[in-house]
Amino acid sequence: MKIQGYWLASGILGVTSSTLRRVHESGADAVVTKSIGPRPRKGHPGPILATSHGGLLNAVGLTNPGIDFFAEEMAELKKSGVPIVLSIFGNSPQELADVASKGVEMKPEAIELNLSCPHAEIAQIAHDPNLTHEYVKAVKEVVECPVFAKITPNASDIVAVGIAAEKAEADAIVAINTVRAMKIDIHQRRPVLGNKVGGLSGPPVFPIAVRCIYDLHNSLSIPIIGVGGVTAWQDAVEMHLAGASAIQIGTAVIDGLDVFGEIKEGVLNYLKAEGFSQVSDIVGLAGR
Ligand SMILES: Cc1cc2nc3c(=O)[nH]c(=O)nc-3n(C[C@H](O)[C@H](O)[C@H](O)COP(=O)(O)O)c2cc1C
Repeated sequence: MKIQGYWLASGILGVTSSTLRRVHESGADAVVTKSIGPRPRKGHPGPILATSHGGLLNAVGLTNPGIDFFAEEMAELKKSGVPIVLSIFGNSPQELADVASKGVEMKPEAIELNLSCPHAEIAQIAHDPNLTHEYVKAVKEVVECPVFAKITPNASDIVAVGIAAEKAEADAIVAINTVRAMKIDIHQRRPVLGNKVGGLSGPPVFPIAVRCIYDLHNSLSIPIIGVGGVTAWQDAVEMHLAGASAIQIGTAVIDGLDVFGEIKEGVLNYLKAEGFSQVSDIVGLAGR
């Protein structure tokens, strides 16, 4: 699939084919599913969502039906006509490769590896270049479709992790997953989220995403799919300039699906006004 345009990020909407059809009609060029693992998983105890400082904290905990039970839902999602990227996770390279093998049978356009949920056991993978390499390689050995590695800003050296994924032949990097964060209720004097710690998304993480994408683009040759806090066309332009070829939008969708169309139109107007003919002309222009 072409790494371009504006996609729905993983885990945001409880997606049915009719919702997805609306997402597509609103201008989304692709949709990433919530992350699917080897077996059904309930996720963390509530509360799983809270707002803080203009952002959203979540500790959903990878709630999903398991790959064996996802085929039906996937078939339904594909009816919407929008290209689907299947997001998966696993607790060992072998387990992730098994989920990927089952996943490709559902014929997604690509597979996105969630190596980086900050409030689940898999959080550790994308902190470590060697582990990242092992997981990506295990999947690349068993599938033919494009494989994207989704990594975390919580890593101390995100560039080393990106390079490891590239060496393992990932077809693109997705950056970033949520930022490890928490909120405390001052009257109850305890953490608000059931899991205590969660992942922050939305506007407050945007500058962090830009920094990660900029650094990754300066060291990598594979495309970068930017995600994190994009709410308007100006953010999308900034992310492209940092090095993102395509952009995923998550939290902003909660305020409405118009965001896809608005961003597309705004970016096109910007390109025209500034004398560029296509998005690829500005990808990474602020770096290197
Ligand atoms: C409620 C919620 C659920 C999420 N679930 C997943 C998930 O299942 N897999 C994943 O890779 N990322 C998941 N994410 C992270 C988003 O895909 C995205 O990387 C992050 O929210 C930053 O983008 P945004 O600021 O545009 O939301 C989730 C985010 C939120 C807010």
